[in-house]
Amino acid sequence: MTEKLTLAVIYGSARQGRFCDTVASWLIRELSASSVFSLTIIDPVRLRTSRGVEKAIDPAEWMERKVAEADAFIVVTPEYNHGYPAALKELIDSVYEPWHAKPVAFVSYGGASGGIRAVEQLRQVFGELHTVTLRDGIAFPKAWSKFDAAGNLYKPDELRAPLFLMMDRLTWWARTLKSARKTTPYNEIAA
Ligand SMILES: Cc1cc2nc3c(=O)[nH]c(=O)nc-3n(C[C@H](O)[C@H](O)[C@H](O)COP(=O)(O)O)c2cc1C
Repeated sequence: MTEKLTLAVIYGSARQGRFCDTVASWLIRELSASSVFSLTIIDPVRLRTSRGVEKAIDPAEWMERKVAEADAFIVVTPEYNHGYPAALKELIDSVYEPWHAKPVAFVSYGGASGGIRAVEQLRQVFGELHTVTLRDGIAFPKAWSKFDAAGNLYKPDELRAPLFLMMDRLTWWARTLKSARKTTPYNEIAA
């Protein structure tokens, strides 16, 4: 049996009462039966408070290890003033080399735009970190109107096709880049 790849779901918001929990929980439920990926979570709240971080290591080391062990990422981000949240940038900037030569997909949410302006800015940031950002993603305009009080989508079937498409392409990139990193370590290709 092929070994599973590790997929890190990154929470974009650290706000108290954040809607991010609803969107990320939906995503994690959808992906929990995956035969391709084992899921892990990277949450800026944990980074800031050390909650859930093993006592023996500091938050920066924890973050370094979480990114290093992942083969692919999905960033679940809201839009704040046409950009991405500061907490997400702090988290991204806390690590450098472990991001290299890995794929990043986006699930965004917000008002009319569904967070796509935040995603377009994140593409610039992730380019600097030598990642591959996926064209295909999920956006939730007026996100709060799409989920019921229990966190379930009113129309779950509408999202399945775009989610499967994004996951198929994320799988392709994750497998391809993992194999390429193994064949030729990325830090050895240029001085
Ligand atoms: C500081 C702030 C700025 C916001 N700016 C935007 C915006 O520019 N565009 C948008 O669509 N929604 C905007 N919103 C609405 C958020 O996308 C929405 O409240 C979302 O639920 C925030 O995510 P969170 O609850 O997980 O933190 C903003 C919300 C906050 C708190």
